[in-house]
Amino acid sequence: MTLDFDSEDLPTNTSQNEHFQNVVNRAVNRRGFLFKTGVGAAAVAFLSAGLAGCGGGGDADPTPAPPAADPDLLGFTGIAIGTDDSVHVAPGYTASVLAPWGTPLFSSGAGSTWAGDASEDAAAQARQMGDNHDGIHYFALAGRSDEGLLVMNHEYTNPQYLFTDGVVNSLDDANKDLNAHGVSVVHIRRTAGVWNIVLDSTYNRRITGDTPMQLTGAAAGHALLQTTADATGTVALGTLNNCGNGFTPWGTYLTCEENFNQYFGTTNTAVPGMTRNANQLRYGLAGAGTSRKYEQYHDRFDWQKEPNEANRFGWIVEIDPFDPASMPKKRTSLGRIKHENAAYAIAADGRVVVYMGDDQANDYIYKFVTAGHYIEGDTANNRDLLDTGTLYVAKFNAGAVANDMMGTGEWMPMTTANPALAAYATQAEILVNTRLAADAMGATPMDRPEWVAVHPQTQEVYVTLTNNSGRSTTDDANPRTANVYGQIIRWRETGGDPTALTFEWDLFVLAGNPTIAQANPLNKGSANVTSDNTFNSPDGLGFDRDGRLWIQTDGNYSNTGNYANQGNNQMLCADPRTKEIRRFFVGPVECEVTGLSFTPDSKTLFINIQHPGEGGNSHWPEGGAALPRSATVVITKDDGGVIGT
Ligand code: FEO
Ligand code: CA
Ligand code: CA
Ligand code: CA
Repeated sequence: MTLDFDSEDLPTNTSQNEHFQNVVNRAVNRRGFLFKTGVGAAAVAFLSAGLAGCGGGGDADPTPAPPAADPDLLGFTGIAIGTDDSVHVAPGYTASVLAPWGTPLFSSGAGSTWAGDASEDAAAQARQMGDNHDGIHYFALAGRSDEGLLVMNHEYTNPQYLFTDGVVNSLDDANKDLNAHGVSVVHIRRTAGVWNIVLDSTYNRRITGDTPMQLTGAAAGHALLQTTADATGTVALGTLNNCGNGFTPWGTYLTCEENFNQYFGTTNTAVPGMTRNANQLRYGLAGAGTSRKYEQYHDRFDWQKEPNEANRFGWIVEIDPFDPASMPKKRTSLGRIKHENAAYAIAADGRVVVYMGDDQANDYIYKFVTAGHYIEGDTANNRDLLDTGTLYVAKFNAGAVANDMMGTGEWMPMTTANPALAAYATQAEILVNTRLAADAMGATPMDRPEWVAVHPQTQEVYVTLTNNSGRSTTDDANPRTANVYGQIIRWRETGGDPTALTFEWDLFVLAGNPTIAQANPLNKGSANVTSDNTFNSPDGLGFDRDGRLWIQTDGNYSNTGNYANQGNNQMLCADPRTKEIRRFFVGPVECEVTGLSFTPDSKTLFINIQHPGEGGNSHWPEGGAALPRSATVVITKDDGGVIGT
């Protein structure tokens, strides 16, 4: 569980929209899903009905073309849980550490050495790797699988390790904290089998909580985005709480601003909480001071002084890693939520569809469909595709379906033409208030939507719903009250068309724990959960080029109670055709495993270990008495083969 000063488990959604769990329960009751085998005709039928070709969507670059589907996708031997302060990977594989927090990107000047005792100042941190590695993507240079740009998010910070005294109590501290956030672009190269940073590369770049970036799209320039420092409403400072990521087929990185609310508070606590408007409450801004304490050092983080500054966060930001001088762009047309990640599909006519989850208990799933059409290699055409299009929010129904899917669903357009949004005069107002607008439309509240992934061949869509442990309803229609384990659902767009307005959905796995006796059998999970693969709180999610589904967890690592025999957070791999799930990797103490990207040959896998030792009990990766450090882990197969085989 991340100790990230946010309460994703606590809903801010006060709408009366029917919860997805109710929909699932009706479907489960109707079809007895949980008691069917997980390896059967239904699963195979789900995949075979999908769209062929079109590519895109998987977490791999488009070339080279994937080989024909392997009948035995999972070729590795699953491993046991781990509880020690080290990483474990399947037999025949090697995991090594790259670019931990504080690693210098330049050989001279500020930050060119790692002190190891948190004594760096803000200027040094701005030239070193940030903290809390999260979403990640490998951009090949000239198509190479041994040299590229590794781009990753730094979601938040661990002040207990970032500062010698463990707290922000000076302007430089606040700025160091801002500089440990954001994104890193790192030139890496493999030499003699070992991946290293190319120090001083002109590609190396830190983007922080203070880097100027352009607001673009339908909300750009609107009065709600204007501040004292920026009367135009078009230039924001920084990106914060960058959680999951996406990438585009035209070679850019998408970084997703999640729990931005934790940075905005007020030093005026005379009447705490009394003056926040509906938007500030729905997005969870604090009525008083924050743990981050930015509001004490920068007026823009005090919402009573700068009420619109927070409106400039909560967006998806597009970054061109190949142009170090380029200004990142906040793409407002994709909506303002607590963005987890962004996964694309391409329609037959070239329109680009971006799927997105809003990670909070009882929040929603969205997709954006571009108006323009992607043209391979046409940079001028593709550059600003994400500025114009239509945002939709999902409604899941349990309605009858004529196949083995569990229910139907619809995508509801979030435009001023929608009568449900008559209260909004402009698209900009809908976008800044995305959550409130979706409330008014009857969108389906979900159990904390985390990462979305699109199958590279079928374009079917999977999403992790990490958990919703705070839900206390106890009626018969809610068998997974206190949903402590989470689930993965998937859907198939009508006609295999990502732009379709309707879909059919299915449960891929209900996580659970068959190793412990529980009064409620539903807590044991679906049939594809076993004592060998049990896990909780699926979060990171992505496909490789061959269609293996990689599942990462950010859950309870106590290894006791409901979580007994689940160990540290981990990464598993699933075959979407059979629903089989196998454990591939286990992280160190008190970490989360997150973010994944492959080289084009699929022979190197990059993942991130975030916040090892968040509870004070890790020294990973160095060991001894060293500070624990978030880091990238590079996984290769000892025989040089494809990851997962
Ligand atoms: Fe930053 Fe929803 O995980
Ligand atoms: Ca301090
Ligand atoms: Ca996450
Ligand atoms: Ca999470």
